[in-house]
Amino acid sequence: MSHPSHESLADRICAVTGAAKGIGRGIAVALSREGGRVAVLDKDEAGAHETMRLITAGGATAIAVTCDTSDPASVVAARKEVAARLGDPEVLVNNAGITRPSALESMSLSEWNLILSVNLTGYFLCAQEFGRAMRAAGRGVLVHVASIMAHYANPFAGAYGPSKAGVMSLSRQLAAEWAPYGVRSNCVLPGLVRTPMTEAMYSQPGITERRVVSVPAGRIGMPEDIAQAAVFLASPQSAYINGTEILVDGGFAANLMSLIPRAGFERSDMPSPHHS
Ligand SMILES: NC(=O)c1ccc[n+]([C@@H]2O[C@H](COP(=O)([O-])OP(=O)(O)OC[C@H]3O[C@@H](n4cnc5c(N)ncnc54)[C@H](O)[C@@H]3O)[C@@H](O)[C@H]2O)c1
Repeated sequence: MSHPSHESLADRICAVTGAAKGIGRGIAVALSREGGRVAVLDKDEAGAHETMRLITAGGATAIAVTCDTSDPASVVAARKEVAARLGDPEVLVNNAGITRPSALESMSLSEWNLILSVNLTGYFLCAQEFGRAMRAAGRGVLVHVASIMAHYANPFAGAYGPSKAGVMSLSRQLAAEWAPYGVRSNCVLPGLVRTPMTEAMYSQPGITERRVVSVPAGRIGMPEDIAQAAVFLASPQSAYINGTEILVDGGFAANLMSLIPRAGFERSDMPSPHHS
């Protein structure tokens, strides 16, 4: 007698962009642990294959597909390759992103366009290309990795914040336009996460300790923390959640008032931050 699978994504085909490392790799691995068959998309071919091997070593199915998400022709080719080798994805996780330090007063148009082309246009291109088969099938899920910076300014990060606010708006618009076709669209907004993107910062002496002070959870986030939220939004457990965002930041955004002195409100008997 066969038993129903307890994996929330059993045999669902999932495409994850920017999955050669960092948060994208964490999401790809987590989806596979829930039974997903994963297409690992990245412009970093070697890294994409490494993620694929991590997944297949665990006994799950994965393929690596080289793709520059900012290039329409590359996205079309990647979608065709995934369809031919795995089938049409029911889940797309838009995650490939870049960041560059830059001051708005002096940043060039080409720098501005570069960030937007990957962080926002790339998300649109992938949603449009992969969404076609989802709408035809009458079911599909889009999960977009945006950022806490969709809400909060990050001085000297150039177009990064605007690109992430744009992703949040794009996601809501996709939710509204495609809900009648059975397609959901939601965002995960990571806070501070240690990945190859941010490693140069965290490996500097004292930076991690100074950042952790602002995070009630008492630690910097890891790709797995973001992956758990992405898996939830990709799975049928979130069937009635559409057009919204989950902030995954260890309480960082809620902690603003603790950063200022407040005479009479201090407590000396608080436990040290919880490390889990
Ligand atoms: N690390 C953080 O603290 C943090 C916080 C908030 C949001 N985010 C977002 O999470 C996502 C993943 O970030 P990360 O920290 O894992 O970054 P990362 O640099 O460690 O990994 C990003 C991956 O995306 C790929 N990529 C970049 N441009 C691409 C393109 N044009 N086409 C295909 N692949 C491309 C890279 O090759 C890399 O494998 C990004 O959207 C980022 O903005 C990260």
